[in-house]
Amino acid sequence: MADANAFDFDSPVERAGTWSMRWERYAGRDVIPLWVADSDFRAPPAVLEALAARVEHGVFGYTVAPDELRQAIVERVQRLYRWPIEPAWIVFLPGVVPGLHLAARRLVPPDGHLLVPTPVYQHLKRAAELAPRAHSDIPLVLREGRWVFDEETLKRSLRPESRLFFLCNPHNPGGTVFRRAELERLAGLTRDLIIVSDEIHCDLVLESGLAHLPIASLAREVSRRTVTLMSASKTFNFPAAGCAWAIIEDEALRREFSADVHAHVLHSPSVFGYVATLAAFRHGDAWLAAQLEYLRGNRDQVERRLGLPMAHVEATYLAWIDCSGLGVENAYDCFLRHGVALSPGAQFGDARFVRFNFATQRARLDAALARMRAAVERRAPR
Ligand SMILES: Cc1ncc(COP(=O)(O)O)c(C=O)c1O
Repeated sequence: MADANAFDFDSPVERAGTWSMRWERYAGRDVIPLWVADSDFRAPPAVLEALAARVEHGVFGYTVAPDELRQAIVERVQRLYRWPIEPAWIVFLPGVVPGLHLAARRLVPPDGHLLVPTPVYQHLKRAAELAPRAHSDIPLVLREGRWVFDEETLKRSLRPESRLFFLCNPHNPGGTVFRRAELERLAGLTRDLIIVSDEIHCDLVLESGLAHLPIASLAREVSRRTVTLMSASKTFNFPAAGCAWAIIEDEALRREFSADVHAHVLHSPSVFGYVATLAAFRHGDAWLAAQLEYLRGNRDQVERRLGLPMAHVEATYLAWIDCSGLGVENAYDCFLRHGVALSPGAQFGDARFVRFNFATQRARLDAALARMRAAVERRAPR
């Protein structure tokens, strides 16, 4: 078992005044902000050292994608997911979200149609809306305590002009780690479509005994029509460094997807993103194991203490909480009045829910849970 004490996840880090999106919005108020999906943890020591060394060099000119990073990604994907890929399949991006937009715009013709899960991280749907391309929402349903696809609706939503299926695995905000059989069925149902799989949360599997499985790793037939989007920024907490990538086996698909990258419509990752990712992949395993242990503890607190229904969070540090029994019009407002800022569920497609980011120091989590518990008890006295 990982030793959560080998690294310090408990000492509070002052984020006010650091231009943090999560903290700035409620600055100066007695509000604990647990919304946007970054963590309150410092990045691994090895990442901080590598960045410091790069700053020490002092020249930050235009940068090419380092071959050693391509190699590190190839090795990691093989080691963790038993997925053999080649360095040339990797297309670097400044973020996963730009990759979602590229996919909707470049891989779906103007009269084409996409399938988008709901609820889901809002930028999957936004990518379809802003392209703009016709799309159908494919609901996830709660089955045996897990958010899984409603496969009948998926089947019914397929149209002759359907081109692309957006998948989010592990799922944000549902916390699902899709199993092999589930992925095989999804791949089968979408056999005529391109799959764009947002796997940014791949290394944040909290449930022991479960493992992330890239859908493209199922079979060559799936890989040749899949764009897999990944980044180390969620796992090791440096999203502002800006580095992500797409893994695309098929050359024609890769060419189409990356036209705007080659045309410089999209900037390359920042040098800090490259440096941080390489250091995390080379030296971050022990830190990651400790972080997972810590997050597991946080998740257990949230599930145990809140007293509201939620699916067991298999992966991610985000709990998707059902507030329909709370008896309030707007659960986000209710918790904000009690001093905790969560993400309103409407942002992801279901206004009855809120999303709770529990990637923070345990003491702050305790304080937030006490405030939320007070809100729940006030609404539903026992
Ligand atoms: C599923 C998912 N995709 C993408 C992102 C953001 O990706 P990036 O910051 O690399 O654009 C997030 C951040 O919360 C996310 O949860």
